[in-house]
Amino acid sequence: MTGKPIIRPRRLRSTAAVRRLVAETRLAPSELVLPMFVADGIDAPVPISSMPGVVQHTEDSLRRAAAEAVDAGVGGLMLFGVPTSGDKDAVGSGADDPNGVLNRALSLLRNDLGDSTVLMADTCLDEFTDHGHCGVVSASGVVDNDATLERYVSMSLAQARAGAHMLGPSGMMDGQVGAIRAALDAEGFIDTAILAYTAKYASAFYGPFREAVGSSLTGDRRTYQQDSANRTEALRELSLDLAEGADIVMVKPAMSYLDILRDVAEVADVPVAAYQISGEYSMITAAAERGWIDRDAAILESLTSIRRAGASIVLTYWATEVAGWLR
Ligand code: PBG
Repeated sequence: MTGKPIIRPRRLRSTAAVRRLVAETRLAPSELVLPMFVADGIDAPVPISSMPGVVQHTEDSLRRAAAEAVDAGVGGLMLFGVPTSGDKDAVGSGADDPNGVLNRALSLLRNDLGDSTVLMADTCLDEFTDHGHCGVVSASGVVDNDATLERYVSMSLAQARAGAHMLGPSGMMDGQVGAIRAALDAEGFIDTAILAYTAKYASAFYGPFREAVGSSLTGDRRTYQQDSANRTEALRELSLDLAEGADIVMVKPAMSYLDILRDVAEVADVPVAAYQISGEYSMITAAAERGWIDRDAAILESLTSIRRAGASIVLTYWATEVAGWLR
C-alpha cells in the first residue's frame, strides 16, 4: 500500500503487557466498600435467594465476614439492619434504639475492628418501619419530610454513639444532610462523616434488596427518590448536599446512571461514590449461572466502568471477592 500510512491504535492493544501499561482505569481493594446485612431473630446466616452468595448475617457471622473483608483490604463496610417484623413500627423505633439490631452490630464491629476500616451505617428508616417507607407517613398518607428529619437526627446520633465512622443517609429527604451534620456537631461528633446519597433514583433494580432487608413496602418511593428521566435534578441535589456539608457524595444505582455519575464527578469537590446495587449484582449472577456471560469478567468490567465514569469509591456486594483477586 502506498500513500498515507494507516494510523494504528491497535498497536497499543497488541499484548496483555502493553494493554496493562496503557490502562487508564485501575481497580484497588481500598476503593471497594462491602454492604452487609445483619438480622435479628435468626440463629444461622439466611441466604437471600434473589442475591445468591449474599446472606443476612447473625452477629457472629457478621463479625467473621467483616474481619475477612478487612483482611482482604476492602476500604469500608456499609451496614444494614434487619429487625424482626415484631420490632417494626410506624416511626421505626428500632432505628435509634441503642439495642436495635443495627446499633448493636455497629458497636460490636467497632469494638472488633477499631479504626482499621471505615465503618458505615445506612441511615434510613425503611428497614425499621412497618409500612416500609424511608420516613414517617402523615395522616394524609405522604412521607412527611420534616418529621422524618427529626427521626434521622435521632438515628444518626445513635449510630455515631454506637461507633459508626460514617453515616449514609439514603432516604432522599430534603435537608437530611444539613440536619444530621448540625446534630452531630452539636453533640461533639465532629469527625463522624456523612456519605450522602446525593442522586438516588427510584429504581426497579432495587428489587432483590427488598428481599434482603425483608422490606414491608407495598407502594413505591417515587415521591422522594428521583425520576430516572431526569439529569439536571442530580446537579441540584449535588449543590444542596455540598452546601449542607456532605463529605462524600454518591450516585445510585450505578450502571444505569453512569451519565449522572460523570456529571457529578465533573463538578464535585469531594470524593464521589457509586453503589452497584442488588439488581446489578443479581443480573450478572443470574446470567452467569445460566452460562450466558463470563461472571468474573463481567464483574470486573462493570466495576471498571463505574470507576471510569467517575466514582473513586464503589459499594459492591463483590467487594471481598474482588479485593482478593486484586491483591
Ligand atoms: C433504602 C435503601 C435501598 C437500598 C439501599 N438503601 C432500597 C430502596 O431505596 O428501595 C438499595 C440497595 C440495593 O438495592 O442494593 N434505605
